Parts: sequence; C-alpha cells; structure tokens
Amino acid sequence: MSLEQTALALVAPRKGILAADESTPTIKKRFDQIGVESSEDTRRFYREMLFTTDHCEDFISGAILYDETLRQSAADGTPLVKLLENRGIVPGIKVDAGAKDLAGAPGEKITEGLDGLRDRLIEYHGLGARFAKWRAVIAIGDGLPSEYCLAANAHALARYAALCVEQGLVPIVEPEILMDGTHTIETSYAVTERTLTLVFGELLAQRVPLEQILLKPNMVLSGYECPQQASVREVAEQTVRCFRRVVPAAVPGIVFLSGGQSDEAATAHLNEMNRIGGFPWQLSFSYGRALQQPALKAWGGKPENKTAAQQAFFHRAKMNGAARSGDYDDAMEQAA
Ligand code: 13P
Repeated sequence: MSLEQTALALVAPRKGILAADESTPTIKKRFDQIGVESSEDTRRFYREMLFTTDHCEDFISGAILYDETLRQSAADGTPLVKLLENRGIVPGIKVDAGAKDLAGAPGEKITEGLDGLRDRLIEYHGLGARFAKWRAVIAIGDGLPSEYCLAANAHALARYAALCVEQGLVPIVEPEILMDGTHTIETSYAVTERTLTLVFGELLAQRVPLEQILLKPNMVLSGYECPQQASVREVAEQTVRCFRRVVPAAVPGIVFLSGGQSDEAATAHLNEMNRIGGFPWQLSFSYGRALQQPALKAWGGKPENKTAAQQAFFHRAKMNGAARSGDYDDAMEQAA
C-alpha cells in the first residue's frame, strides 16, 4: 500500500484509531487508578484483550502501539502485530521519546527523539508498523505558549514527519495544546490557530507531502477550569472554523485526541463537527482515554471481567464510529 492509501484506510468511513501507545510510566498511572500492578504481563493481557474484541475492526482502523507492545506476542504465541493485521487493523508506533523541559523557557516542553530516528523507523517498519506518532505538548498559561516553544516543536514535528515519509510510514503529526487551565475557548482558538499555522509552515518547508500525513490535534475547547464552559455546538463550530482556515485540503484526515475530555463529551464533539460537514478532509478520532477508560474500569485487572471490558470498549468504538457521520445521539448511549 502507498502512504496515501494507508492514510486513507486509517480514516475510512465509520472508523478511527485506537491510541494504545501509553509509555510504561503512563500505563502505570492508568493501572494505579484501578489498583492493578503494571507488569509486562498485565500490560500484554490488557492490550491483547482490547485488540481481540469481537468486531472492533468494524470501527477501529488502526492501533498505535508502544515499543514494548510492538514486540509482544499474545497468550497463544501470535505476535500482537499479526493479530491486528489479521483483523485488518493497521499497526502503528509511537516514536517520540517524550516531552522534556525546553531550555530557557520555564513551563514549556520540547519533544525529544530525533537522534537515531531513521534507524528506529527502519526497525519499526520491519516489525510491521505502517504509521507513526509524535506528540508535541503545548501549555496555555500566563504569557504561554511562547513563539519560541511553538517554533521549536513545529520544527521537530516536521523533521519527524519527513523521516517517516522517507522510510515508508504515515506520520501522525500531533501538536497537542493542553486544555488544563482557566483560559476561555477564544484563547484556545487563538493558540490552536497559531500552532497549526507554524506546523504546516514547517511541514511545507521541510518538503513533507501533505497527502501522506494525518493531523492529530486537540479540539478547540474552554480550559477545563474555565468558569464559562462552551457548549457542544460552540466547540464544534470553533474547531471547524479554525481547521478550515489553517489545515490544507491536501491532508486526508484529522484524527482528534481526546485529551482528558470525558468519553461521552469526546464523542459528542466529534459528532457535532461531522453534522456540520462539508470538509475537504475526514474528521475522525485517535482516542486513548476516551476509548479505553470504561474498559479499564470494567476490567479492574480481573481476568473474569474480560468480556465486560471488551463490551465496554466495543461500545465506545461503536459510538465514535457513529460520530464519524454525525449519527450519534444520547439514545444510543442509553440503549447500551
Ligand atoms: P488521549 O485521547 O487520551 O488524549 O490520548 C491520545 C494520544 O495518543 C495522546 O498522544
């Protein structure tokens, strides 16, 4: 498959991406919340459980894995990558090395992982990965973000994307503006627009063919501590307005992160945007928490809860699948 074809397969109608690429420290935090020890084996069990959910491939086009998972095998010895491929789910890989303090910019981060990236991409491709993810983290605060932070992260995202294209992996370009804070939706709009403007400037400057990438952005939301929370309709309108202005039509798809929204809010926002419709790109999801949270809770680390956990995961995948075409509503939640 060409990179264009893989990118289009990842944003096929009714489908979206499962982000299951939590680093070892991050998955430990998720397991801590349900009182489960994080070991190589519990992590393998949990992720195998998600990937083997009956018919999840009806709504899940691809799964982003962490390095450890890409190398793991299911209980019956089948490599997890193979297990995904057999279902028609495209395996992907997180390739950044995490967000670290940006020198000279208190409170701001730069994502590391460019050194040696070409060789790692060659290895990952050999292990079956067909797309990759790199996340930049931008905080909103007093005087933040700085133009310096936005420019440094945009540059790194484009360097990563260019290397992915060279090595035959579709790059998911993820500039995440955190929604922690008291800022209004207008501030979120302004920061998102500025960030994406710089990101696309760098992608073009570094000769990245936009037909071969996917953008994974935040939605334009009120800060989580903002007293004036925007409605679902407002979020959809502001997000769509922003993306129409700054995301070139050549990009095949926009796959949102959930970023700490409740699972139902993440679905409702995506649904409302697709109701507006008429876009040059597909509007889809690449959710981590919003797809996994109910399944994690239902599982609670107990093998006997596997079926309940898979049902919870399937339900969220199906709801988000419906939101891809604006066909989701509250009644569908209640019916479950
Ligand atoms: P959330 O949907 O939990 O924000 O995770 C998506 C992701 O992959 C962040 O990099």
